[in-house]
Amino acid sequence: MYATPLAVGIDQIGFYTSNFYLDLAVLAQRNGIDVSKYHHGIGQEKMSVPAHDEDIVTLAANAADSIIDDAERENISAVFFATETGIDQSKAAGVYVHRLLGLNSNCRVVELKQACYSCTAALQMACALVARNPKKSVLVIASDVARYELDSAAEATQGCGAVAMIIKANPRILQIQPQAGNYTEDVMDFWRPNYRKTALVDGKFSTQMYIKAMLAAWDNYQADGGFAFADIAHFCYHLPFTRMGQKAHRSLCQHNMASIPKDAFDTQLADSLIYSRIIGNSYSASLFIGLTSLLEQNTNDLTGKNIGFLSYGSGCVAEFFAGTVVAGYKDKLHTKKHEAMLHAREPLSHTQYVDLWNYPDPQEGEEVTMQMGTTGKFKLARIYEHKRDYLRV
Ligand code: HMG
Repeated sequence: MYATPLAVGIDQIGFYTSNFYLDLAVLAQRNGIDVSKYHHGIGQEKMSVPAHDEDIVTLAANAADSIIDDAERENISAVFFATETGIDQSKAAGVYVHRLLGLNSNCRVVELKQACYSCTAALQMACALVARNPKKSVLVIASDVARYELDSAAEATQGCGAVAMIIKANPRILQIQPQAGNYTEDVMDFWRPNYRKTALVDGKFSTQMYIKAMLAAWDNYQADGGFAFADIAHFCYHLPFTRMGQKAHRSLCQHNMASIPKDAFDTQLADSLIYSRIIGNSYSASLFIGLTSLLEQNTNDLTGKNIGFLSYGSGCVAEFFAGTVVAGYKDKLHTKKHEAMLHAREPLSHTQYVDLWNYPDPQEGEEVTMQMGTTGKFKLARIYEHKRDYLRV
């Protein structure tokens, strides 16, 4: 067993997604597919589509803006930015966010990548850094745009979103426990070479790898002294689509020889799926948007409950870890703001969606069009001298 001298974990959590979405009923009708394949087969209803002037930086700044006050601005010692939708081969996207949020200049900023897994690595590194200097906090951000080819089997599993978390000593939302289980294997289930805007994916194989890696990570978590299955009240999974989370949980139940009645199965899982069902895949952010969904949509008091997390990133790396909900957490949530943001989104016609999808990346010297623009506080205004110019609106 580890000594746990200090409680470290999530003190604040916020997320953001685009103000545009495509209803999958529209996609089903256009593609001549029975909509129940989307609603039940993959468990998705809507997918967020980024605006012309929106990218991982603007999504991230919007997610983080509402969780940071002036005292926190001064106290943040590092920004860890997880993404697989990089906008530059050299400069970390978090440096733009650092300026947009007005963070103090005595701060480390770095970008992390390993498909959808990297935010978990960022969270664990942030916990370690805070344990080393408990007076300081770390801002962890995950921000991604999930993009597959039009008319492909994966098209309905697109989406976009960002999550931001303040990691601190004596956190007011979730204490992250030190035990963790990991699994890595070099496989080609999903990848995106630098010369492509869309991911390549071996869809069925990726779902098999997800389950295989999850069970191996779980076994390693048990070997590390983690909570027994029966001691975990709720589970959050990486959600490429919500049915994947249900399948994963069923496999984990079977693996633990736990025969769970449907009601109990839903109690363990259902609330974490609500936001992803209407946002779609947000890659590195998806697991933690799932946590936000659970904390905000579950009507019970979760104080003292253990939450299990399964992080999976294709390629592949998986990790199982857990956290314990802290008393008073509900006061720190931004439930109304998140619900209002999701409610205010604008539905796209199929033509508008295809136009947005085909909209070329802005090039040198171009102003970014205001049409189909973001309603968020931050936007990409132009590219000049090959530099991205972001504005707070
Ligand atoms: P597909 O070929 O369109 O789907 O691709 P399908 O034909 O297998 O159908 C899907 C399910 O819908 C099936 O259920 C059907 O039976 C059911 P299942 O057998 O799986 O239980 N179905 C229906 N249900 C109700 N009414 C109907 C109906 N018709 C069929 N009428 C696939 C599905 C997931 C492969 C595809 O969407 C894809 O390639 N997606 C992208 C890859 C992906 O999301 N993989 C997930 C695991 S990997 C991961 O999570 C990492 C990732 O996030 C990336 C990263 O790490 O960065 C992707």
